[in-house]
Amino acid sequence: MLQIKVCIGSSCHLKGSYDVIRSLQATIAHHGLQEQVELQAGFCLGQCTHGVVVQVGEQKILGVLPEQVEGLFAEYVLPEVASPGSSTH
Ligand code: FES
Repeated sequence: MLQIKVCIGSSCHLKGSYDVIRSLQATIAHHGLQEQVELQAGFCLGQCTHGVVVQVGEQKILGVLPEQVEGLFAEYVLPEVASPGSSTH
């Protein structure tokens, strides 16, 4: 299960965390990945000046806008879930 964490700390919240979460939810559903991707809201990830911060596995992606979610998904999420046989983490 790949974990995606969206910061909902006050700074990221003000910059639109919930829009990013909604966009991620829609994208996960669109790709039918509800069983492989776990979406979580998390507290401050320590990069407040670069919000909204999204963490995919161990990778932090800074300054995410809702309209960037599709591209972020293609770049960071799909490669992680697309390799069958590497599910041991
Ligand atoms: S509030 Fe999001 S990184 Fe601090």
